[in-house]
Amino acid sequence: MTPSLPDLTDRAGIKPLVNRFYEIVRKDANIGFIFEEIVQVNWELNLPNMYPFWETVLFRSGGYRGDPIAAHSKFVSKTEIGKAQFEHWLKLFRESVDSLFSGENAGPIKRCAKDMANVIHGKMNGVQDPRFDPANLTPEQRIRYAKYKNQKEPEA
Ligand code: HEM
Repeated sequence: MTPSLPDLTDRAGIKPLVNRFYEIVRKDANIGFIFEEIVQVNWELNLPNMYPFWETVLFRSGGYRGDPIAAHSKFVSKTEIGKAQFEHWLKLFRESVDSLFSGENAGPIKRCAKDMANVIHGKMNGVQDPRFDPANLTPEQRIRYAKYKNQKEPEA
């Protein structure tokens, strides 16, 4: 019987996960070149930035202060980085999580990654989160949304 994998319960699990994920990403035939050739990521700086990012996402304790939207927007004009690339990134991420962990936190971290992928993809490509369709709002949500929209985009 395969021994069961541990759950991702604290920051100690983050480093191996991030290291495993980027080891795979860097060599990946579909998106590796974005990191290695287009952006030429400095991994000595990037990895220690990703540990607090994921710790902040998962345990609210990492003290991450970066700006992922800005970081990704810098290279959007230099390569194809649409839905297909994000779906592939997510696949590699899910596989990395599943290769190291199982249990209660393994599910939420994959869901968090998916939510953030939707947001980052949307902002980078100027499209709305595909799951959000104002037509599907409840009447209460519609009122809140209208107020929010008016605050954000006042009539000219
Ligand atoms: C195809 C999809 C993606 C590609 C090609 C990609 C690529 C990159 C690259 C090249 C950098 C380094 C930028 C630099 O060194 O200046 C970066 C940074 C980063 N990425 Fe991604 N990324 C993708 C998706 C995601 C997703 C879905 C997330 C979140 C779940 C994410 C989180 C981050 C974070 C937090 C940083 C560091 C930002 C900072 O603090 O400067 N990325 N990404």
